[in-house]
Amino acid sequence: MSARAILPVLLLLSFICSCRGQLRVGFYADTCPDAEATVRSVVTDAFNSDVNTASGLLRLHFHDCIVDGCDGSVLINQPDGQQENRAFGHQGLRGFNVIDQAKAQLEATCPGVVSCADIVALAARDSIALSNGPRYEVPTGRKDGLVSAISDANNLPDQDDPAEVLIAKFRAKGLSEKDLVLLSAAHTIGTTACFFMGNRLFNFRNSGGPDPSINPPFLQKLQQACPAGGDINRRIMIDAGSHLRFDTQIYANIRAGFAVLQSDAALYSHAATRPIVDSYLRSPAAFPGDFAAAMVKLGTVGVLTGSQGEIRNVCSSFN
Ligand code: HEM
Repeated sequence: MSARAILPVLLLLSFICSCRGQLRVGFYADTCPDAEATVRSVVTDAFNSDVNTASGLLRLHFHDCIVDGCDGSVLINQPDGQQENRAFGHQGLRGFNVIDQAKAQLEATCPGVVSCADIVALAARDSIALSNGPRYEVPTGRKDGLVSAISDANNLPDQDDPAEVLIAKFRAKGLSEKDLVLLSAAHTIGTTACFFMGNRLFNFRNSGGPDPSINPPFLQKLQQACPAGGDINRRIMIDAGSHLRFDTQIYANIRAGFAVLQSDAALYSHAATRPIVDSYLRSPAAFPGDFAAAMVKLGTVGVLTGSQGEIRNVCSSFN
């Protein structure tokens, strides 16, 4: 990362270090010195066998943080099936096995030290780096939450939400319009199931037709890829033409009507978010550092630290 790109990250880190004394870079330096290297190595192995690991782990971190804070609650499985990860908006989440593997290795070397919430945050950071995105330090020291309820995940940002609703949902978590635009650029990598495309392609806001903001030739391609009544599990790239490259092409696609997800397209329909999209198209060099800073900020949402929460033995169940 260039010196210019790294500045916002450094400023944000100093803010976090002063306001959240217990979340800090290098939290495990004494208690589990190889913690970050262990996570990196497990994520790298998984990425080398399946490149889609990266987008899965990046989305997992967002979904963990946006419901009840970054506390590993999305990882929990319960016998009654009423855990958070069963919520409608969490469909398609993946990467749980990678987190479990990293946790198993860490428990073998440093039992009871490294939280699942931190492993998720570190795995997202490593996934971005492996996808040639920005490299940044992750403040650690999160504790794992003691609650995981499907009802807490009812109000997730949804791909059908208009921009003002997305803005309000992000604000409720302390994230700004700029954070919304930056973090949505995570869609520069990864795929979506046709499941999420139906309304946008065939019944946009109950109009009986497609979203008019889609570029017409592109609409034809999307409708061919995800036909009405077709296989809802079929996956298509979100950042058309650039879904394995971490770059600002996603913003160019949004501006030109080539957004795949409705929530991304919505960013260009609102007076508060459109200029932010345009600003990164004008100054793409500002994007990597700002994106990294937004990721660090996302990773502080609702964290438990110190005597709060627990360090789980196994990420999918409470102790
Ligand atoms: C603004 C609100 C957002 C909405 C409505 C939204 C919605 C979606 C949807 C519907 C998918 C397709 C899921 C699937 O079919 O498996 C998706 C994928 C993805 N999302 Fe988001 N998203 C949002 C924000 C974010 C943020 C903030 C991040 C990360 C910082 C993120 C990261 C990802 C990634 C990496 C994928 C690809 C996942 C994969 O390939 O498995 N999203 N998102």
